[in-house]
Amino acid sequence: MESDALWYKDAVIYEVHVRGFYDADGDGAGEFRGLTLKLDYLADLGVSAIWLLPFYPSPLRDDGYDIADYGNIHQAYGTLDDFRMFLEEAHRRGLRVITELVLNHTSDQHPWFQEARSSRTNPRRDWYVWSDTPDRYKQARIIFTDTELSNWAWDPVSKSYYWHRFFNHQPDLNYDNPAVREAMWEVMKFWFAMGVDGMRLDAVPYLVEREGTSCENLAETHEVLRDLRQRVDAEFSGKMLLAEANQWPRDVREYFGNGDQCHMAFHFPLMPRMFMAIKLEDRKPIVDILERTPEIPASCQWGTFLRNHDELTLEMVTDEERDYMYDEFARERRAKLNLGIRRRLAPLMEGDRRRIELMNGLLMSLPGSPILYYGDEIGMGDNIYLGDRNGVRTPMQWNGGWNAGFSSADPEQLYSPIISNPIYGYQAVNVESQRRFDHSLLSWMKRLIRLRKSTRVFGRGAIELLAPENHRVLAYVRSLGSERILVVANLSSQAQAAELDLRRWKGAIPIEMFGGNLFPPIGDAPYLLTLGPYQFYWFRLRRL
Ligand code: GLC
Repeated sequence: MESDALWYKDAVIYEVHVRGFYDADGDGAGEFRGLTLKLDYLADLGVSAIWLLPFYPSPLRDDGYDIADYGNIHQAYGTLDDFRMFLEEAHRRGLRVITELVLNHTSDQHPWFQEARSSRTNPRRDWYVWSDTPDRYKQARIIFTDTELSNWAWDPVSKSYYWHRFFNHQPDLNYDNPAVREAMWEVMKFWFAMGVDGMRLDAVPYLVEREGTSCENLAETHEVLRDLRQRVDAEFSGKMLLAEANQWPRDVREYFGNGDQCHMAFHFPLMPRMFMAIKLEDRKPIVDILERTPEIPASCQWGTFLRNHDELTLEMVTDEERDYMYDEFARERRAKLNLGIRRRLAPLMEGDRRRIELMNGLLMSLPGSPILYYGDEIGMGDNIYLGDRNGVRTPMQWNGGWNAGFSSADPEQLYSPIISNPIYGYQAVNVESQRRFDHSLLSWMKRLIRLRKSTRVFGRGAIELLAPENHRVLAYVRSLGSERILVVANLSSQAQAAELDLRRWKGAIPIEMFGGNLFPPIGDAPYLLTLGPYQFYWFRLRRL
């Protein structure tokens, strides 16, 4: 494995839930042994890092984001030894491993909380946030609006209220307490020392509460992060911290600090705007948000994504934009969840290969390190009739046989039903059938990832937006050192022509990257390109 400390800047990250990938022991749910058996698939796909959803002991009332023990593996997913084996096998294939650090809250089943609630004088009492009234911190919004009415929950044991930003069974830890910070540092050390390469810091804006504020993005929260980062840097090298801060770009910018907080942060506002742009058939939403995205320190990186294990969140859009997104992408009431849409990429694109390719083509060429959600590389569907976000967490579809090749258990025993409708069902959409054809989505995704990784321009280069008159066409130049890549994308459902002002690169020859074919050299005249519906080009600009 390359020893570059900035590895995350060139990474293509694959998000996967160990439960949903491969069930090797036939009990109906995936485990680390199963995931390990599928590492060759991921290496072959070409991704360079794996981000794992929480796999710790947990009552699984929030699919593992409710942790009951930070130092172990949920028995359904295997043992610590299985995890170590997985890590070693991943590393052997050059794949880095990113785990979840859920630092804002624990499960109410965590022994820390059990002690804290046992009496008002328990030494752990102050590890959580308590109150005699539910009236404090009134300005903090509720995040899980479909299930929670308040951020305070009544604890009948100690007869007081505890603070929770997510489900009421997920009490928030008290980061004003140095003992909590020490405990979390112990957790980080344990996993980093084992060899984990990076951590996604779950729900990081909400660590500290202060009266009269939204209790998000507070200076005190950033102080906690600076402290943790300093400790990471002092003890380890080449580790990466990724902030999950669903906030506006200027607020997310703070999570990078001066390169002394998180190495990466998700670009939440860009994501819905990519969907808006393709629906509006107009580049404006993407251009606007890129223009509002501040510069970040050189050692930092955005994490870009189309879909993940949660609903497609619409927190970072205006009310009108949200209405538009619901109208266009969630006409069925059941597709909506909280402030978002619980659908996978392929159904959102109405199964249209051209649009799926275009969205991935943008994802892989815009600034940041792209994160793919398992199953989206084969165009898996979802099931909006399952509760909460479970409809986008169904078993991976490996083949057209028994349980989609995911498990040998009885179908009734599976942790979740497999997608089985005629369009996205496993008989139609699965890895094995797509492996057979060069032109399947899977084969195409492999080529896309390979091209993305053929240069460091995409991960490390600058972006310059071009402004062709035809606003249905998005065009930008990525550049690093003397390398230039021109990306041109038709966001519309109809053929388009665009004239690009490329005079600055006069004399250069555009080489289309997928085929390696030469296009006419750039001269003084506007460079004319025609594009079919949803078509995009990546050109290397080669000077003669
Ligand atoms: C993050 C996770 C989400 C989880 C929540 C509470 O937003 O992505 O799945 O429910 O945190 O831990």
